Amino acid sequence: MNYTIRPTRPEDAEGTAALRKMPGVFENTLGLPSYRAADSVTFIQGLGPNDHHFVAVLEDGTVIGAAGLHVFPNPRMRHVGSVGLFVHTDYQNMGVGTALMRTLLDLADNWLMLVRVELEVFADNERAIHLYEKLGFEIEGRMRMTTVRNGQYVDDLKMARLRKT
Ligand SMILES: CC(C)(COP(=O)(O)OP(=O)(O)OC[C@H]1O[C@@H](n2cnc3c(N)ncnc32)[C@H](O)[C@@H]1OP(=O)(O)O)[C@@H](O)C(=O)NCCC(=O)NCCS
Repeated sequence: MNYTIRPTRPEDAEGTAALRKMPGVFENTLGLPSYRAADSVTFIQGLGPNDHHFVAVLEDGTVIGAAGLHVFPNPRMRHVGSVGLFVHTDYQNMGVGTALMRTLLDLADNWLMLVRVELEVFADNERAIHLYEKLGFEIEGRMRMTTVRNGQYVDDLKMARLRKT
């Protein structure tokens, strides 16, 4: 499979919106099946200097994954960033998520010099947790009943990766 990882462009709005509401993706993020392409346009237009957003795209332009890093703007937290990512259901478990996360971590480590990168993940999302632990994230704690998912309240894990010096 040939795909490229590159910064998100305005024309990716529809493709990323399709992923955000896709069954197999939205349940494990904070998405909803009612997510609109217009929401994605607003999101992309609103990206600022502390936001670093990438997509994985096939040669025909189909968006098969997206990932973002947000650097905390507070002057005392500029060494911290938070990340999130998701991959098209048909392309999961094929290394795309790992490649997207490596792209974010290269930026965080070598270009932004972040010390701490953090994320939240549902406590039963074993594939995501495996990927994050593989790339150096550690579980810091469990937050109970934080989020609604399919009629139930589910727990989140806080994970973080401290940059090796
Ligand atoms: C989680 C997600 C981003 C991972 O991306 P991906 O492209 O599917 O993941 P990759 O193929 O790069 O890596 C998956 C790894 O998990 C492993 N894995 C797969 N299923 C697993 C499971 N049930 N338990 C543990 N590990 C599992 C794979 O073997 C692989 O590990 P390896 O590289 O050591 O062989 C993607 O599946 C996704 O978008 N899921 C839905 C949305 C989501 O959960 N987003 C994250 C929210 S925090």
